[in-house]
Amino acid sequence: MSHSLDPEDWQAFRARARDMLDTLIDRMEDYSDGPVWTSPDGYEPKLDTAVLGQGAVRTDQALLELMQYGVGNTHPRFLGWVHGAGTPSGLIADMLAATMNANCGGRKTGAIRIERAVIDWALATFGLPETGSGLITSGTSMATVIALKCARDSRLGFENRKTGHEGQGLVGYTSSHAHSCLDRAFDMLGLGGDALRKIPATPDGRMNQDLLAEAIRCDRQAGLTPFVICGTAGTVNRGAIDHLSDLADLCRREDIWFHVDAAFAAALQLSETHKDKLNGLSRSDSIAFDFHKWMQVNYDAGCVLIRDEDSHRRTFSDRPDYLADMGRGLGSDMPWPVDYGPELSRGFRAVKIWAQLIEHGPEKLGAVVDANIEQARYLATQIKNTPTLELLSYDDLNICCFRYVGDQVETDLDSLNQELVIQLQESGLAAPSTTRIDGKLAIRVNITNHRTQTEDMDVLLDAILRIGRRI
Ligand SMILES: Cc1ncc(COP(=O)(O)O)c(C=O)c1O
Repeated sequence: MSHSLDPEDWQAFRARARDMLDTLIDRMEDYSDGPVWTSPDGYEPKLDTAVLGQGAVRTDQALLELMQYGVGNTHPRFLGWVHGAGTPSGLIADMLAATMNANCGGRKTGAIRIERAVIDWALATFGLPETGSGLITSGTSMATVIALKCARDSRLGFENRKTGHEGQGLVGYTSSHAHSCLDRAFDMLGLGGDALRKIPATPDGRMNQDLLAEAIRCDRQAGLTPFVICGTAGTVNRGAIDHLSDLADLCRREDIWFHVDAAFAAALQLSETHKDKLNGLSRSDSIAFDFHKWMQVNYDAGCVLIRDEDSHRRTFSDRPDYLADMGRGLGSDMPWPVDYGPELSRGFRAVKIWAQLIEHGPEKLGAVVDANIEQARYLATQIKNTPTLELLSYDDLNICCFRYVGDQVETDLDSLNQELVIQLQESGLAAPSTTRIDGKLAIRVNITNHRTQTEDMDVLLDAILRIGRRI
């Protein structure tokens, strides 16, 4: 008796796969129609005996039932958090990845060479030396952990990989507007969140460099060891970009690792109009960014780049006997991705990035960036011209934070705006998110979506005014 899980009837499998593909493409053609988001209330998927092992027909029904309950980021009016919209071509690359079923921890395979090609492209694009290294990750959060481990271990001469880093007094610096993934990385690396000094920002949302220099001085005086400055290119609340060149100068003077979180704003590098905003990024020691945000690669696809390949490899590499370099054959072609990160088993994320770049090219992706910045500009202008709305932050990028103030009579504006965003999401018309700007609850619109049109801003504002009045 065969235990194979392959189809018994390949013709039937072909027909099933084609049917499914047609249905998926129908859905993609309709991305712009229907509600942005459908609440999964009432949808209670279970893996109980009623469904386990029920075969292909039941499986496909279950998969299609699920499809309507996405986050909504494929819709042009998904404007919350920082999500890319993905592309239909991503499906083709994902089908190839599923077909190859490659484990990209290492070994001598075409898949590993594709990942290297993507890393080489990224190093060149961001102006890092071609001798640098990198890794495709699940996202910027994981890329940040890898970069900061590299910064920490380099500072300690890699000895800490055996002995730990207790008593070393390591401290790092970032802006008070930086993303929480930096705190999480400090936590995960055993440095503790308090060791990441939060330097207040100037009114334009950038790290205050005088206060930064002062903090470093005080820490050194206290006998601590400053080891990393984490700049941000594109803060999550307003898209502010730290003075990267100045931070690079300071890091050089102080002999400190210069890391940059460029999660979404890395895509500015693809825009002829806006790439200057990233001046100084090429002088960083490490960059964490996402392909799945503004570069529209389907989830998930992040990346870490490291200037000094040797440091990167020494931070992670260790070779048990069963993974030894065999010189030739499958067990060769070193270094492998496992030498640059914590995971041994990894999927083939690089292929969808590679395919996206081949199909659409940096120029077309850069044009999406330009269009989204224009749309945010239009939105900010409309908000300024509407007396019942108050613009809370806008930094000439792709993010606009504002609130409905109505006629300004005694009202709890925080609760009102929170309720407004919830009702807007539930209406399915548009999905912004919320944040706080100077303590005020704000409607946060982030545009990293190639399907968004300027008219979508009008639909959004009409809905906000209508719901605001009603509340
Ligand atoms: C500035 C910034 N850094 C880091 C992250 C985390 O990225 P990821 O969700 O890919 O882990 C985000 C996510 O929105 C971000 O905006």
